[in-house]
Amino acid sequence: MNILVTGGAGFIGSNFLNLYVPTYTKNNFINLDKLTYAANPENLNTLENSSNYCFEHADITNYDQLVQLFEIHKPDLVIHFAAESHVDRSIHGPSEFIQSNIIGTFNLLEACRRFWPERKNNKLFLHVSTDEVYGSLGAEGYFTENTAYDPSSPYSASKASSDHLVRAYHRTYGLPALITNCSNNYGPYQFPEKLIPLMILNALAGNPLPVYGKGENVRDWLYVEDHCRALWTVAEKGIPGETYNIGGNNEKRNVDIVNQICEVIAEETGRDPQQLKSLITFVQDRPGHDLRYAIDASKIKKKLGWQPKEDFAGGLQKTIHWYLNNRDWVERIQSGSYKNWIETNYGNRKNS
Ligand code: NAD
Ligand code: TYD
Repeated sequence: MNILVTGGAGFIGSNFLNLYVPTYTKNNFINLDKLTYAANPENLNTLENSSNYCFEHADITNYDQLVQLFEIHKPDLVIHFAAESHVDRSIHGPSEFIQSNIIGTFNLLEACRRFWPERKNNKLFLHVSTDEVYGSLGAEGYFTENTAYDPSSPYSASKASSDHLVRAYHRTYGLPALITNCSNNYGPYQFPEKLIPLMILNALAGNPLPVYGKGENVRDWLYVEDHCRALWTVAEKGIPGETYNIGGNNEKRNVDIVNQICEVIAEETGRDPQQLKSLITFVQDRPGHDLRYAIDASKIKKKLGWQPKEDFAGGLQKTIHWYLNNRDWVERIQSGSYKNWIETNYGNRKNS
């Protein structure tokens, strides 16, 4: 089987390819990635000599490029990770989000429709999406697959839009497509603009730990490899046309996560936990900041038999070890365009 993975040089895509290319040697994996600021081909170094892996530098907003690559690689399964993924960036500049997340997904769907003209069951489009499409919860309740869409940020609105297109292509053209909506991931290779790696690296450097608002917003955290295993399970056993919510049943307030990160770093490096915690700085809140996300993952558990393997304490420790042991990776990222972007956009954040 030929598996086209879009966005495979990003955080979740890299973890997915590193997990499955060496295991499923009879499948060919094609990684199609534009290599934006969030990508790092270095994440995939160990796969370079694998005969069942190849990289294609391409942009999903370019339909002609997609057609060429479909002609060459004849994919049977498309796993669509490629997207602009950071909420704060979408607030500062939504345009790329509209292009890559909406137009890019539309182009991929069009390519599938062109190359998979019959309603064949041996082809599959797996669209990797987020729980943020459902908007914000109050103190109670969970997102199920039937929760109405109510996105708050340009990022989540662009993902919601792409989900609607995927569902429409299934209903209208019979495209064999599946959608997964997953909660916040954490783990190795995550770009240090997202909460957990940002706080780990700032704490290690002795820099302020900028918590938005009062730090009371809640996310449901899932270790990235558990998400990857869920995706593989959905690709193998999911029913086309269905949606599966994926989550860790692991709700945490942001301020509690940051405190926990300080405690683990103190344990691992011999520093004073109170001194690390004193770096916590409450800053101006994110506009449109969703209060709480919480996933009801009972459908994927009951119907497909998936459940997470990692608990939060173990996953966080592994993640902190990874960042401690990969200082060169961090160094290269911090010296690049990421740093310029952070300086331009976050340089003058006001304290709350
Ligand atoms: P990421 O930002 O780390 O990586 C995205 C990858 O997509 C990068 O390699 C980038 O180069 C590539 N890309 C972006 N635009 C492209 C384009 N136009 N053409 C080709 N490639 C392009 O993102 P991530 O955190 O790995 O997320 C992957 C997917 O999973 C996204 O669709 C995201 O919405 C979804 N998701 C993420 C999370 C999370 O917590 N990170 C949770 C649920 C769902
Ligand atoms: P983030 O990692 O950006 O993921 P998402 O917005 O997709 O959930 O943020 C996770 C939570 O952490 C979110 O409630 C915003 C908050 N946050 C901070 O408090 N400070 C920060 O510097 C960042 C990046 C996020």
